[in-house]
Amino acid sequence: MKLQVLVLFATLAVAVAQDFLQEDENRDSTDDADWERFKSKHKKKFKNKDRERIRKNTFVQHNRQIRKHNQIGKSSYKLQANQFADWSNAELEQLKGEIDTDNEIPGPVVSTDILRQSVPDAVDLRKSSCMPDVKYQGGCGSCYSFAATTPIEFQRCLKTGKLVTLSEENIVDCSQKYGNAGCNGGLALRAWNYVKDIGINTEEAYPYQGEETLCEYSASNYGGNVTSWAYATRSNDEEVMKAVVANYGPLAVSIDANDWEFYSSGVFSTPTCSNISTNHAVVIVGYGTDESSKKPYWIVRNSWGSEWGQDGYIYLERGVNMCAVSKRAVFPTAY
Ligand SMILES: *[C@@H]1O[C@H](CO)[C@@H](O)[C@H](O)[C@H]1NC(C)=O
Ligand SMILES: *[C@@H]1O[C@H](CO)[C@@H](O)[C@H](O)[C@H]1NC(C)=O
Repeated sequence: MKLQVLVLFATLAVAVAQDFLQEDENRDSTDDADWERFKSKHKKKFKNKDRERIRKNTFVQHNRQIRKHNQIGKSSYKLQANQFADWSNAELEQLKGEIDTDNEIPGPVVSTDILRQSVPDAVDLRKSSCMPDVKYQGGCGSCYSFAATTPIEFQRCLKTGKLVTLSEENIVDCSQKYGNAGCNGGLALRAWNYVKDIGINTEEAYPYQGEETLCEYSASNYGGNVTSWAYATRSNDEEVMKAVVANYGPLAVSIDANDWEFYSSGVFSTPTCSNISTNHAVVIVGYGTDESSKKPYWIVRNSWGSEWGQDGYIYLERGVNMCAVSKRAVFPTAY
């Protein structure tokens, strides 16, 4: 841990030094105009000129990559210099926070018999009144807690007829014994192991802080529970995943989100995404096929706020294990 911190600081120091060295080289008027627009659109404020210079350098680098991607225009998706465009790589990492593991975590797997049930060509659970608004994890590696709450919130709402949102902070603060690490990452299925034993408080009673604090679970603020969880597939079978979404609701998945930060629209598909290792947890809430490109997609709910992507969602290419989407697809049975 200490070594990691040192390495992080060393990396930051080098990054800062490089930012100063590269300052203002090759900058053109588009960069300046884009920066001014970005600052006012996202109400960015800086402590002093040096801070602003560092942020601007980061922005310019990102903005050029984004413009290049969009200009080439061969891709099925567009990027945009969104609110994260002046964040350093270390900060962008904090937007994720899944602890990947290659060791198989034991758990039941859905039988492929589920394919005999009704599996429509398209499903969009965003249209359901049981789908909560998209949330924002901030600079805390707590994606797994957001991936854990959505399926419980949704299933519980279907059963009770009432949407009550649940506490990610509860999971961040209290599920360490189950293998999670607060703002330093975790897994949705480990959060469910916690919720299975203890329960989870409502969002209202235990609001999100974006940093790890003392566990304050209180039985009197009970918001729901999980009696079990299962894998949709252990063999990258995206047809079974479809059937699970159609028949059980939101499905938590692990993904490689290294190229997701500046996603804007279209069906995300890139050869640079890993199909093996993952660093982020998100939730599949539907699927379909893009009319113009004919690409099949998943509708994926993120926890980067509703300003990001398509009102907080991304369309991810389906059927090719894009970004390792089928590596760890899990869902709970929730009450
Ligand atoms: C979870 O819900 C089930 C079903 O309602 C209930 O039997 C069980 O006692 C609950 N567990 C906890 C820890 O509250
Ligand atoms: C990952 O992609 C490679 C190259 O396309 C392929 O051979 C491999 O089977 C894929 N692995 C998984 C787990 O999807």
